[in-house]
Amino acid sequence: MPNVVIVGAQWGDEGKGKVVDLFTEFADVVVRFQGGNNAGHTLVVDGDTTILHLIPSGILHQGKTTVIGNGVVIDPLVLVEEMDLLARKGLEVEGGRMVVSRKAHVIMPWHKRLDLLRERRRAKAAIGTTGRGIGPTYEDKAARQGIRVEELVQPDIFRARVESRLDEVNDVLRGLGGDSFTVDEVVKPYAAAAERLRPLAADAALLLHERIVDGANILFEGAQGTQLDLDHGTYPYVTSSNTVAGNAAIGAGIGPTVIDEVVGISKAYTTRVGAGPFPTEIFGHDGEALREAGSEYGATTGRPRRCGWFDVPVLRYAARANGLTGVALTKLDVLTGLEKVPICTAYRLDGEIIQRFPDDQASLQRVEPVYETMPGWSGSIRTARSYADLPVQARNYVERIEELGGVQVVLVSVGPGRDDTIVRSNPFG
Ligand code: IMP
Repeated sequence: MPNVVIVGAQWGDEGKGKVVDLFTEFADVVVRFQGGNNAGHTLVVDGDTTILHLIPSGILHQGKTTVIGNGVVIDPLVLVEEMDLLARKGLEVEGGRMVVSRKAHVIMPWHKRLDLLRERRRAKAAIGTTGRGIGPTYEDKAARQGIRVEELVQPDIFRARVESRLDEVNDVLRGLGGDSFTVDEVVKPYAAAAERLRPLAADAALLLHERIVDGANILFEGAQGTQLDLDHGTYPYVTSSNTVAGNAAIGAGIGPTVIDEVVGISKAYTTRVGAGPFPTEIFGHDGEALREAGSEYGATTGRPRRCGWFDVPVLRYAARANGLTGVALTKLDVLTGLEKVPICTAYRLDGEIIQRFPDDQASLQRVEPVYETMPGWSGSIRTARSYADLPVQARNYVERIEELGGVQVVLVSVGPGRDDTIVRSNPFG
């Protein structure tokens, strides 16, 4: 029974939600293993749009178990809000359909405030975080002073932990020019959410282990993308967790040997929100045209995304860093109507042509993309349901990416709906 990890191969927003949703049909359990509500998955099912930030998108399928793993950071208010949103759509989260790891760390109100204060202080060097408190929560985890779900759901212990943290927290907040918190200001708003989450809190790693032993198919749902990985991304313009496939094991509490397949999701072009290097970025009219064609605005913050052409060194890097066994190419339809479609095949660095994505900031700032152009296609491809339905130019584009990237394109997405998809090879067999 295959266990499959799905990760972003670029800077996030590759359309992972849709692909995860699609493959969930073949999975028994869907697990999130890192990140928090900095992520945003837009799912369109039968014309109905649902945006989820925290709950695994597998929840939209009846009969599947969803797990929020220990590696995730949780804003209890957001989690409960999503539970309510789903309930209004007739999807019950309670009653065994979702498990939250007791070891997952809680995003506290001061983490959100700190996130914003630090960004303000960074001024021109701001990372462009989502402001959701993600970084400060992971900092506290690494500093061994974080508050976990286990503590959140026990009111007395939670209050004591808040009391013990607030002295230092308030010093830091005031030092950064921010307002301090009282204990009640922190504890009261979280109390009702904690009540709701108590029945969901469990030993998620044990549950996963038992399901794996039983032969269940597990789908590990990554958030953000490889280039936003804390170690392997474009540091410091990254998120505060490891987004690569290796972290699926750590963030879910299972051994790496249970992972069979790793699928990277990549747009048929490239986007990035927030600051930081982006070699194939398109400025001016063409960039704006691509943004409009692809509705490239953040699902979490609504910010316009920076747009660029397909970047092969980025794909090759993702293939290596994640051990990709396949890539899903999304939003191919957005490129329809372009006379010529550029692909960045390599970079020029100090007069030399290089194939690799540089691992140092200094080189990354100097690389210039080297393009080849492929003939475009016209006429909608939205209704294509088999690979052969695609115009030959679109197939050539896909196959060129496959050839240059050295990884098989297992899926092509031609529209936002669940059905607007061509599956060439299913990782679940
Ligand atoms: P943080 O994760 O909020 O700390 O933000 C750090 C960087 O990661 C910023 O550039 C964000 O725009 C980016 N980021 C975080 N989550 C996502 C995501 O889900 N998609 C795209 N970019 C993200």
